Amino acid sequence: MTAEGRTAAIVPAAGRGERLGPGAPKALRLLGGAPLLVHAVRALSASHAVGLIVLAVPADQIDEVRALLDEPGLATEIVIVAGGETRQESVSLALLALPDHIEVVLVHDAARPLVPAELVAAVAAAVHAGNPAVVPGMPLVDTIKRVDDEGHVVVTVDRDVLRAIQTPQGFNRRLLESAHARADGGLATDDAGLVEMAGERVLVISGHEEGFKVTRPIDLVLAEALLARRRAAGQVA
Ligand code: CTP
Ligand code: MG
Repeated sequence: MTAEGRTAAIVPAAGRGERLGPGAPKALRLLGGAPLLVHAVRALSASHAVGLIVLAVPADQIDEVRALLDEPGLATEIVIVAGGETRQESVSLALLALPDHIEVVLVHDAARPLVPAELVAAVAAAVHAGNPAVVPGMPLVDTIKRVDDEGHVVVTVDRDVLRAIQTPQGFNRRLLESAHARADGGLATDDAGLVEMAGERVLVISGHEEGFKVTRPIDLVLAEALLARRRAAGQVA
């Protein structure tokens, strides 16, 4: 079987999007006329790195999401499951839906709709090359300071050794499954965090500025502008 056939992407898309403000669940909010999760699925499909995409969505939105993803050009097989109370639980539930032949799993936030397909492919390739856990990371642009309870600076941190971590994060499937099984109630903000707790080494490769997460309203403004630029350049429909 091809590397693509042995690789699946899990898309956690069951969050409420509280920081984005009132409205539909974040993954269903529109960007250039299409929901965020549709953009994320298109990017994963365009990478030609995954043969299957498993989405974890709010339990009452499974049928709606299935209809949204019924579009031509999405060659990738898609499975939709109900997500959980936390992102970690949503990923765990999606892992249960993977068929036996899947050996490599990418986990990609629906909230990162404009991730370049090349970044998806690079993460998958690094796992297939023998790295059991691979994440994209970006250098920090702001000065970082540690503060105390009263808001006074304790120390300025050396930012050269820090990275802001994005998705997709790629894993050997068995490693990711055992990390989730061992997590047992403990929460990490990303999947690599669980793998680190299990004692495995995680490789950081170069991320991409267009892989940013839509978290606050201003991120949606940036995403709309970026999408408009891509459309003007004829890069997307
Ligand atoms: N997510 C999920 N299940 C949850 C919570 C989050 O699948 N119970 C997903 C979100 O849909 C998103 C990704 O995890 O694609 C990253 O989470 P985040 O950016 O925090 O999204 P939300 O939890 O929706 O936003 P907020 O924290 O502002 O409510
Ligand atoms: Mg959240």
